[in-house]
Amino acid sequence: MSSALQGKTILITGASAGIGRATAMTLARHGAHIIALGRREPALLQLQAALPAGTVRILAGDLNDDNYLRQIEALAPEVDVFVNNAGVLRYAPILELTPEDCAWMFQTNVLAALKITQILARAMTVRKSGHLVFMSSIAAREVYRMASVYCATKHALSALARSFRLELQSFGIKVTEVAPGMVDTEIREGSNHPDVLAAVATRKFKPLTAQEVADAVAYALLSSPNCCPDLIELRPQGSF
Ligand SMILES: NC(=O)c1ccc[n+]([C@@H]2O[C@H](COP(=O)([O-])OP(=O)(O)OC[C@H]3O[C@@H](n4cnc5c(N)ncnc54)[C@H](OP(=O)(O)O)[C@@H]3O)[C@@H](O)[C@H]2O)c1
Repeated sequence: MSSALQGKTILITGASAGIGRATAMTLARHGAHIIALGRREPALLQLQAALPAGTVRILAGDLNDDNYLRQIEALAPEVDVFVNNAGVLRYAPILELTPEDCAWMFQTNVLAALKITQILARAMTVRKSGHLVFMSSIAAREVYRMASVYCATKHALSALARSFRLELQSFGIKVTEVAPGMVDTEIREGSNHPDVLAAVATRKFKPLTAQEVADAVAYALLSSPNCCPDLIELRPQGSF
């Protein structure tokens, strides 16, 4: 397949699972070189083995570790596209969320996401080109019961995406926010409150697939040079 992504270097956080993994597979099929990040090295090795040799480089580590961020910084000069995808969530009634739950979500979804984007975007300003994709959520514009702090982190991430766009557009850098509704991935595994489980069990729609979200990322990255899809919201049909 001949693609505008042929030969581009795309760094993806959270590529060891779910949406990030599907995005890595999809963009690799367009001929991109993938740098796949996540904490679980075995899962990254599986991704690498699933694609042609030489397509995927992996770098395992925790985005909340500054030493790991320094390793990422060394790769920054070669990164054409950054997919800022890693994220965590804990659903629970707002009065039952612990300070640790809240810090964990803000630390990973907002502060680590900001730090790594600053690192990669600085190198893009030198080259005067690049594309940043932020994986926010429908929860970046709405709030849901039992998702209070997660929604707050995604509102914050969306604000950061718009700020990067505002300040970096003069450097030829595009910024796209992809905002999906519910996808069945591992992300809800730590949310076992009975009210959360009951809400999921009685939902009346079919969730999106990770592939559908990956296709939206590909759509944004394949837009013509003068066109920047700023925000792509994806909802399961019939979910609202
Ligand atoms: N699933 C949904 O319904 C949904 C809807 C809208 C938006 N989103 C967003 O989509 C993104 C991907 O979520 P997903 O549903 O694909 O979840 P997932 O399957 O749980 O994947 C999350 C990814 O983030 C990585 N990650 C988490 N904490 C990390 C850390 N501290 N350092 C490095 N990597 C870390 C995980 O890798 P390791 O575990 O290997 O570290 C994993 O690859 C998230 O930002 C999420 O908020 C999800």
